[in-house]
Amino acid sequence: MSVITVIPGDGIGPEVIEQALVVMDGLGTGLEFDVLDHVNASTFLRTGVALSDVDFRRVSASQGTLLGAVGDPRVTSSEYARGVLLRLRSDLDLYVNHRPARLLDARLSPLRDEQRRNIDCVIVRENTEGLYAGIGGILRSGSTEAVAIDAEVNTYYGIDRVLEYAFSIARRGVCLVDKSNAVRSGGSLWQRCWAEAKQRNPDVPVTHLYVDAAAMKLVSDPASFDVIVTNNSYGDILSDLAAEVAGGIGAAASANINPHTGYGLYEPVHGSAPDIAGTGVANPLGAILSGAMLLARIGREEQARALTRAVEATVTAGRCTPDLGGDLHTKEVGAAVLAELG
Ligand code: NAD
Ligand code: IPM
Ligand code: MN
Repeated sequence: MSVITVIPGDGIGPEVIEQALVVMDGLGTGLEFDVLDHVNASTFLRTGVALSDVDFRRVSASQGTLLGAVGDPRVTSSEYARGVLLRLRSDLDLYVNHRPARLLDARLSPLRDEQRRNIDCVIVRENTEGLYAGIGGILRSGSTEAVAIDAEVNTYYGIDRVLEYAFSIARRGVCLVDKSNAVRSGGSLWQRCWAEAKQRNPDVPVTHLYVDAAAMKLVSDPASFDVIVTNNSYGDILSDLAAEVAGGIGAAASANINPHTGYGLYEPVHGSAPDIAGTGVANPLGAILSGAMLLARIGREEQARALTRAVEATVTAGRCTPDLGGDLHTKEVGAAVLAELG
């Protein structure tokens, strides 16, 4: 039997993951869920351990992981998120963060211009390097002469493989987003790898945008994008932006994957939303659709399609949480998706 690790995490994480598990059970997946509900901010604050080696081994021995969100206002350092989420991304070498943004229903678009609303793109975010590499430190710490340095790491190997993934999933084209007009070394290495990747994929239409212009165009003409490939930081920011343009971050799903090992960590794009945690209004669709992405990757494409269709029907019927204009609670949305599944 396939074992899936589940890390509900913090804030709304457990609330939305509960509904993802309810609908996956309802689908009759027969998956076994190994729930690590002790991996959370309270444990980190009490013990100083974000993710133990024992838990890391449980994750890596499983067929995939579903994560809610990690983050808590009581935790002010980056060590907690680094110790759970970023550790899993880097130690499992999940170098692609695949973040689709697709408008599920025209009424959800925040855009005025109907012609340009129909966003259906994927942000391919490099997921193991960049500013997230954790290389740097503070000189003269504590003094008024303190200097904080975080190196942005870009390797040929890392850029090349994420570009290759972007080309491999392109339907209408690939757009490279960088800041090579200002960022000297990394910018030129991305451009070199981009030139080589374009040569290897001569049939794929390509475009290039600086990240500031890309942010603008994601609002003014989002339907023009297919695959956007970019570094870790820009991908983080643009995927929240694209999610909102697609109707709301609460319904945005993502997959952290290594296309070669096949391992994946699936999570909604949103965080632990402490502002609404405990109120019962968190949108579970991002978590549910992350579950669908997991099912698709572990060879259960039919179940994944059924789940995605059920989510679409639920949204079209207006059976949503307040962030999508509805008046349902988290659990009621889970029940509505389940009902659509029949
Ligand atoms: P956030 O995504 O948690 O919240 C941003 C806004 O979106 C808030 O107003 C929130 O109420 C709303 N929102 C988010 N998800 C929603 C949902 N499912 N339904 C309805 N509304 C939703 O971002 P933040 O406030 O910057 O971060 C809060 C904490 O989460 C921080 O500790 C941050 O580090 C962490 N975080 C974790 C992840 C992750 O684990 N993958 C991702 C992003 C942020
Ligand atoms: C995300 C989150 C994380 C990131 C944080 C929690 C470290 O924002 O998954 O998008 O920046 O990657
Ligand atoms: Mn983010």
